[in-house]
Amino acid sequence: MKASVLSFRMAVLCLIAGMLWGLHMAISQDHSAHPAHAHLNLLGWVSLFLFGLYYRLHPALEHDKRAHVQVWSWLVGTVVMAIGVGLVHTGTMAGEPFAAIGSLIVFASVLLFAWLLFRSESASAAVAPAE
Ligand code: HEM
Ligand code: HEM
Repeated sequence: MKASVLSFRMAVLCLIAGMLWGLHMAISQDHSAHPAHAHLNLLGWVSLFLFGLYYRLHPALEHDKRAHVQVWSWLVGTVVMAIGVGLVHTGTMAGEPFAAIGSLIVFASVLLFAWLLFRSESASAAVAPAE
């Protein structure tokens, strides 16, 4: 599967989960887990969709294993982080290690994305006509 297709599919699943979480908060009138809902939507839907657009614009990355590792690690990190933050904000402090590990996974994932982006942009600059 192309990295962009994986990103788009996983992003829309995060959006559905994030919106269900938002609806649950709104209906129950208990907004205490809102940071988890916010991060699930912003990392899982917005950021993952943006990664997908970048991969779609750079076909050389579409079948690159490192791009797949980046998307999967971002997804796993986001879900683990959202569960951990949700637990902490609803009073279960046992969620703290999940929030910490999830955050570190997404941070590692974004470093990998930054590296792929810099390499890819250097390659584009090398073939572009002189300005
Ligand atoms: C069915 C759709 C959604 C519902 C019902 C919903 C509901 C909520 C609720 C009840 C809060 C807590 C507000 C508060 O207490 O301050 C909240 C916060 C938030 N939501 Fe949603 N949400 C939805 C979709 C989204 C989406 C799609 C995004 C992002 C793309 C998003 C981003 C955020 C953010 C960033 C916050 C935190 C705002 C803050 O800290 O002030 N939400 N949402
Ligand atoms: C390693 C990654 C990240 C960590 C550890 C992190 C951590 C945090 C923390 C500790 C807060 C304060 C929450 C509170 O006051 O209860 C926060 C708020 C927020 N973060 Fe992040 N963040 C990360 C990535 C991001 C990214 C990538 C985005 C956007 C794309 C984002 C958007 C927001 C927003 C909108 C808020 C305010 C909404 C709220 O109160 O929940 N964060 N973040």
